[in-house]
Amino acid sequence: MQKFLIKGNRALKGEIQISGAKNAALPILAAAIMLPGRSVIRNVPNLLDVTTIIRVLRALGLKAEYSQSKPNTVNVWNYQVKHVAPYELVTKMRASFFVIGPILAVKGLAKIPLPGGCAIGSRPVDIHIKGLEALGAKVELEHGFVIAKADKLRGGKIYFDFPSVGATESVIMAAALADGETVIENAAREPEIIDLANFLNKAGAKIEGAGKEIIHIQGVNSLAPVDHAIIPDRIEAGTMMMAAAITRGDMKIGGIVPEHIEATVRKLQESGIYVELDGDSVRVKNDDGFRSVDVKTLPYPGFPTDMQPQFTSLLCLAKGTSVITETVFENRFMHLQELKRMGADIRLEGQSAIISGVEKMSGAPVRVPDLRAGAALILAGLAAEGETLLEDRDHHINRGYEKLLEKLSALGADIKKVS
Ligand code: UD1
Repeated sequence: MQKFLIKGNRALKGEIQISGAKNAALPILAAAIMLPGRSVIRNVPNLLDVTTIIRVLRALGLKAEYSQSKPNTVNVWNYQVKHVAPYELVTKMRASFFVIGPILAVKGLAKIPLPGGCAIGSRPVDIHIKGLEALGAKVELEHGFVIAKADKLRGGKIYFDFPSVGATESVIMAAALADGETVIENAAREPEIIDLANFLNKAGAKIEGAGKEIIHIQGVNSLAPVDHAIIPDRIEAGTMMMAAAITRGDMKIGGIVPEHIEATVRKLQESGIYVELDGDSVRVKNDDGFRSVDVKTLPYPGFPTDMQPQFTSLLCLAKGTSVITETVFENRFMHLQELKRMGADIRLEGQSAIISGVEKMSGAPVRVPDLRAGAALILAGLAAEGETLLEDRDHHINRGYEKLLEKLSALGADIKKVS
């Protein structure tokens, strides 16, 4: 159990730098299973989910560790790969399941535990499986494990009913070493998918169209080790933008890719908050308050579901009534109950939260139900009057944010861990 104490109502001001993207680092580290030899991956955020995927790689027989001398650099030595992924790690973090494609591609057999449910929704893996079957794999479920077999994967044509990020990544990885051409239609277009494709292309893969709806992959016989730097974390950037807005602060957030945060920028501007992009940085300033807006989460380039809880916290303090509709996950509103404890006025109707803005929120003891909800509650605590005590039983916040407390403190926040 981890607890954070926040003394709120302080404007955050100053400059910060964004870390590497967790959601790009996880599939790229999984893809290292397909690159024999030593690969170097830079700009890897040092956080719990990355530590978990590193542990998965080790359990599979690879050597992987953060460099002692170069910050945020992970070295991977790959000379053997086992085909069974450990239950205790895969059930801990859903993204560990993404090793199924790479293991199947190099071993012809992969035995991976079902990742199981997750607080924000049922999150099945049927689209991953459908994709691997289209490449000729035989997939069975046995004693809680997904067992995928294929002496040699062969290219195929796949249409995704939903543009799943993870399934797009699983199929890209498996298809990179298949015989012949694979075409994915209705693929997810997230920037993390482009980063994965760039990583694999550097290693010798032939992937075209990543970031678009149709991706073509021409299978190759083998891949070579590479040196690659991970893209910046657009969700961390968005969270910091919300921190500036909700605390009526003034922040310059550096190391961003403007295109990746466009939906968040537009929604903040629509609510009347000052946002200015300048090269690879963005300034967010709010001294006049802001008004309500409606938002619907969608796959990229739509408004990210991973920013929905943080934006909900912000809109609790807007002038007027906002409607937030969640279309990607079916149970991603667990922060609402906690925000209400802090004085927010929110009503849940189906998949929409109807938020009537209040003048102020007040600090309260709250529980962190999942990673981004935790970020949302920190934001609310930073803006609220008085003290907020966050109970984070499962270390959700450490899973997804690198040095969050240090970064917020440097901007003037009063936030600390307490026992
Ligand atoms: C990734 C991100 C996560 C983000 C999500 C949506 C990583 C490590 N995680 O998760 O932070 O919130 O994208 O942007 O990159 N689904 C199925 N069957 C499947 C796969 C998914 O029904 O086989 C459903 C899910 O339950 C969910 C929706 O599709 O409702 C989106 O999931 P998906 O895009 O696959 O998300 P992840 O890759 O798990």
